[in-house]
Amino acid sequence: MTNLLYMSGFGNEFATEAEPNALPKGQNSPQKVPYNLYAEQLSGTPFTAPRHSNKRTWLYRIRPSVVHKPFSRIENKLLRSTPFDEIPTPPNQLRWSPLAIPDEPTDFIDGLITIAGNGDCSMHNGLAIHIYAANKDMTDRFFYNADGEMLIVPQLGILIIDTEMGRMEVAPGEICVIQRGIKFRVQLKDGKARGYICENYGGLFRLPDLGPIGANCLANPRDFLTPVAGYENIDGDFTVVAKFLGNLWSAPIDHSPLDIVAWHGNYAPYKYDLSTFNTINTVSFDHPDPSIFTVLTAPSEIPGTANCDFVIFPPRWMVAENTFRPPWFHRNFMNEFMGLIFGQYDAKAEGFVPGGCSLHNCMSGHGPDAATHQAATNANLVPHKQENTLAFMFETRFVCRPTRYAMEIGELQHDYYECWQGLKPQFSV
Ligand SMILES: [Fe+2]
Repeated sequence: MTNLLYMSGFGNEFATEAEPNALPKGQNSPQKVPYNLYAEQLSGTPFTAPRHSNKRTWLYRIRPSVVHKPFSRIENKLLRSTPFDEIPTPPNQLRWSPLAIPDEPTDFIDGLITIAGNGDCSMHNGLAIHIYAANKDMTDRFFYNADGEMLIVPQLGILIIDTEMGRMEVAPGEICVIQRGIKFRVQLKDGKARGYICENYGGLFRLPDLGPIGANCLANPRDFLTPVAGYENIDGDFTVVAKFLGNLWSAPIDHSPLDIVAWHGNYAPYKYDLSTFNTINTVSFDHPDPSIFTVLTAPSEIPGTANCDFVIFPPRWMVAENTFRPPWFHRNFMNEFMGLIFGQYDAKAEGFVPGGCSLHNCMSGHGPDAATHQAATNANLVPHKQENTLAFMFETRFVCRPTRYAMEIGELQHDYYECWQGLKPQFSV
């Protein structure tokens, strides 16, 4: 599988074939498929989901997915799932320094470290937040996640992701989404990699509605890229690792499951370059709520209440007049996990560094640190380009409950609260 070609569009009905005329014409499942391939449907939603949200893809493959030996449990290592009840969840503001790339050989699966999560994967709500830190290619195994789709945010190292639908290369500054059930293998172009993952148990990520913004801006559909078909026809001693109801299971398989020669449908992985995000903000005073930075939203059954929003804070112009320009102090209904891909985040002078993360849960006060507040209240408000910065947020409706591991590692910054202690009363009458 060496193709590195993409099709443009978000959730389109794509059609792609790695051999000429491999796609059946005019029907999905003819008596005999071209090249004697097997036809298989992969449903990402119930058959009866409304048309605008119905997701399925027809796969034309060398062997159907059912051809493997039985699964048996393997160690979850540092991967955790619902219920996230290992320890009581504190209302404290939490922040972590970057986790190190391991010394021992660790592939993408072994390198999954769960930081926090919520909801119930068996009820298809909530999410888990993982860091991956790896130094080894997946060579003889493949992975799929039956519990949710995975939004992968590389922070260090380019990922070569071979999926059932084709190959994607995803670099820091880009993201990708691999939906529930799609098998893939991760190789590390730079020999090591680190990043963040939102495992979304709920409804699929989609583009947010734009309301009065109009037909364009924020993330534009044409900038989402889905791989063209590419396949492997390889026999060997492989395993398929499944994440199923929170646990890892492994099954022997005597061939590569990345054997899809052609496919058509609207359920397929995609990647997106965050630098193509068309950022909207004020041209007068104050700034809007950070929902203006939403790239993708995974809605819940409650209107306007996302199971998860994926939000970015990219380079942008600051022009607001008579305005405190960094994020204001706030306490929110929603729960905010933040990471930093590169550069500096405008609400913190220090301590929040690339590869690190923070968690501010429901109604826990937070905002700029004392140094940032001091600088911003005294700044000369000329137009200013906020350069060299790319932070992101997974914002979720349920409290994010940290894992025991996340609360016990040395990277947890126990002195985080001190960044606000310099905010002294300035009141005078
Ligand atoms: Fe916040």
